[in-house]
Amino acid sequence: MLKTLILDFGSQYTQLIARKVRELGVYSEIVPFSASASRIKKEEPGALILSGGPQSVTARGAPLPDPNIFGLGLPVLGICYGLQLMGRMLRGRVAPSPKREYGFARLGVLDRGSLLRGVRAGSPVWMSHGDKLEEAPPGFQVTGGTENARLAVIEDRGRRFFGVQFHPEVIHTRDGMKILSNFLFRIAGLKADWSLGSFIERQVEDIRRRVGKERVVCGLSGGVDSLVTALLIHRAVGDRLTCVFVDNGLLRKDEFGRLMDRFRRKLRLKIVGVDASDRFLRALRGVASPERKRKIIGRVFIDIFEREARRLGRVRFLAQGTIYPDVIESRPVRGPSSTIKSHHNVGGLPRGLRFELVEPLRELFKDEVRSLGLRLGVDREFILQHPFPGPGLAVRTLGEVTRESLEILREADDIVLQEVRRAGLYRRLWQAFAVLLPVRSVGVMGDQRTYQRVVVVRLVRSTDGMTADWHPASPAFLARLSTRIVNEVAGVNRVVYDITTKPPGTIEWE
Ligand code: XMP
Repeated sequence: MLKTLILDFGSQYTQLIARKVRELGVYSEIVPFSASASRIKKEEPGALILSGGPQSVTARGAPLPDPNIFGLGLPVLGICYGLQLMGRMLRGRVAPSPKREYGFARLGVLDRGSLLRGVRAGSPVWMSHGDKLEEAPPGFQVTGGTENARLAVIEDRGRRFFGVQFHPEVIHTRDGMKILSNFLFRIAGLKADWSLGSFIERQVEDIRRRVGKERVVCGLSGGVDSLVTALLIHRAVGDRLTCVFVDNGLLRKDEFGRLMDRFRRKLRLKIVGVDASDRFLRALRGVASPERKRKIIGRVFIDIFEREARRLGRVRFLAQGTIYPDVIESRPVRGPSSTIKSHHNVGGLPRGLRFELVEPLRELFKDEVRSLGLRLGVDREFILQHPFPGPGLAVRTLGEVTRESLEILREADDIVLQEVRRAGLYRRLWQAFAVLLPVRSVGVMGDQRTYQRVVVVRLVRSTDGMTADWHPASPAFLARLSTRIVNEVAGVNRVVYDITTKPPGTIEWE
């Protein structure tokens, strides 16, 4: 299986390029733009793609790859910034454009002999660039152009170097997949031999070989990634895998029991359930700061997990549900000076324990993890569940977390989810939940004056959680929610609807 390496120059679309290449059946990985030619050679890729990037190649300090990558004999496709890099490094001419081009353009095709085979004349392409290639490097011919970018496609078929000014990876470029597929299959001669089926086979074999007769422990969070990790390992080593699922008392209504049942009975995992809600609540007593809550929950989780793992006797391996975006986002992209965002799965590794890590999903994107889960027998409803924060209801009970406030929140949250499902909204929303405020408000119920808690309903739409819009729910739907929550949840006399987008708000309240 030959892979394609994508050199990342910081484009928002880099991961999308990698996913599109995989969709075409070619395994792809993203490497920092600064990867040396010798490192790239060691990986033995079948092709290179240079991603777009936010900078100008003409600026001082612009990120440049190792020039020797052009001497490896590999086919190279430069996209946007990647094309301009080729222009600059292979002795063409790039000029800053007075006007930034952003949006649709129509592609005029001059030669369909190679990269543009099958691409229709006037096909819409998606542009997003400032600089412009003014003169192609020696050896290149121009095979496509748009009104604003005369040199939108350049090719050096001898050396197999290609560049496109637009973004073939985005859906708006109608023939984009055709261009990528021409590059991968016709030009680079790769085979479509990557699939989740082959991934499962390969991983199962690898895990078996590595784990041998030893044992593995895996912490389940209730989320998709840790469960799919466990199932994959279970397929490889069966009951030499033990899962640990900790009830931190911060899960939704009936969730712990329901999940334990699903894990045990339907998925046949060997699993230790630990009711640690008292420990968590005790540790959280008197704490109102969101960040302190998060830290405490992480620490207590590690303590408990460590204790349970010790109890299992000699276990050599720890399985974690790290996925590819976690891996990419934890490493510096823009050189050593930038801050490194570190990723901590399930609250960080138990320090005192000398585990070896098994992370079979490290290569997969989220949508691939979901498909893998389906193949491994997880039901669609579980796979498509909304994200739920690790610290759970603790960050939705504003201020101090008490047993009583958790009870109120659980009931309100349950009603929100029931109604969202009933209205057929669940799939259309990114998240739907209730938040309990630490204030009381005056109300009147029957002839009684009440002085009770306030519940916020938050329904948001989003594609990645980075930005979000509040859902414009119908007045009838909101009325039903409000009536049910006030009538059915003791201790609540007021319901408000959150109409804040992200930014400037965040999805969670804490
Ligand atoms: P915010 O509130 O930052 O949330 O807009 C973005 C997404 O991240 C989830 N979230 C968390 N997930 N631990 C998690 O595992 C956390 O501490 C945490 N805080 C927020 C949130 O639910 C949303 O999907």
